Amino acid sequence: MQGHSTYQPKGGVAKWLEDRLPIVGLVHSSAVAYPVPRNLNYFWTFGGILTFMLVAQILTGVVLAMHYTPEATKAFASVEKIMRDVNYGWLLRYLHANGASMFFIAVYLHIFRGMYYGSYKAPREILWILGVLIFLLMMATAFMGYVLPWGQMSFWGATVITNLFSALPGVGEAIVTWLWGGFAVDNPTLNRFFALHYLLPFIIAGVVGLHIWALHHVGQNNPTGVEVKDFRKDTLPFTPYATLKDAVALVAFLLFFSYFVFYVPNYLGHADNYIEANPLVTPSHIVPEWYFLPFYAILRAIPSKLGGVIAMFGAIAVLFVLPWLDTSKVRSGNYRPMFRIFFGLFVANAILLGWLGSKPAEQPYVAVAQAATVYYFGYFLVILPLLGWYEKTKPLPNSIAESVLGGHGTPAGAVAAPERRG
Ligand code: HEM
Repeated sequence: MQGHSTYQPKGGVAKWLEDRLPIVGLVHSSAVAYPVPRNLNYFWTFGGILTFMLVAQILTGVVLAMHYTPEATKAFASVEKIMRDVNYGWLLRYLHANGASMFFIAVYLHIFRGMYYGSYKAPREILWILGVLIFLLMMATAFMGYVLPWGQMSFWGATVITNLFSALPGVGEAIVTWLWGGFAVDNPTLNRFFALHYLLPFIIAGVVGLHIWALHHVGQNNPTGVEVKDFRKDTLPFTPYATLKDAVALVAFLLFFSYFVFYVPNYLGHADNYIEANPLVTPSHIVPEWYFLPFYAILRAIPSKLGGVIAMFGAIAVLFVLPWLDTSKVRSGNYRPMFRIFFGLFVANAILLGWLGSKPAEQPYVAVAQAATVYYFGYFLVILPLLGWYEKTKPLPNSIAESVLGGHGTPAGAVAAPERRG
């Protein structure tokens, strides 16, 4: 982390520890004294919420794994045992399954926040790229987790998605056999998915560590998109200001989460997953979990299988190069009148794609999904590059403090921020 700790160990033991392993000083400089822009709004609380959710998913997942059996003839029954016989097993499972959905709600809001306020622009490109990598890892983890209850949707979802690789010319079939560990989704597939589903969250935690390191190195963006100029006027210490705001948002988020867990625990799931996997009976309508639906719609919008696979992966890959596609010198959407319209359409289009993904692959849905796919890619590859050249942006405030106070004197509660960049 950047900056020098102002932490002064008090007492012999604290001094002894700080001389050998300055961990308390590190926590102090990154979670207490760390300067945050004074104008952050509630969209900046989702990073903290995501960190909380990652820990919650790991904790509930580890306990679930103590009672779960990753074996094709026993997996489904072991989940039923968790629901009925294990003390609070129903709660653990509902927390974990709905927790995955909550995690994705938070990550989508976190991503849209970054896209609207231009948080991916220099010098935050690596921070953004690490985020996209986390997103990919989250999708892989959620996909494999969904297979574990070994219900009909688990089995057929896994079959459809792994089969996509067969579209690759020449090597496709071999890759699919290798992924399955056999000639169909079966016990070896379930076993490896379980092993990877257990492993990946820890990899995600490692990448989140890098993500937050990069964040603390470059400093947070803010709703104006104007960089911090005077630490004393533009920033506040992380604790108590950001910690308390994050806590308020987390409580509200947990209330929302609790509603699903305690009142409609199966609302976000699919009824077919309460039927044990049966390789001989294909469900009439195979759909992935809601958070994959926009990408599923893009996959099915392209008439060729290989084309669909390329478009689906391309829809995520394009995010990696977003920092270089947006040519505007102004970061925040607040000062970009045309961008705001196109961004609003992008969000609406993403929701439309999600809805289309839940519909059968027939007309008129396919035609609409094709138009929506064109807009999705057009936004990144045509609109953003051109907007930077043609858009007339609004004047930016001179500083963060000015945007909050209209340039009237030193803000109340201004503190001497000890941290400095670079
Ligand atoms: C497990 C998932 C993730 C965790 C735990 C996480 C954590 C955080 C935290 C704690 C912050 C600072 C607080 C905030 O700005 O909300 C942050 C900022 C940021 N994150 Fe993430 N993040 C995750 C996923 C992602 C993803 C998927 C992306 C993008 C694709 C992303 C992009 C960013 C960016 C650009 C910032 C800087 C925002 C700014 O300062 O304006 N993050 N993240």
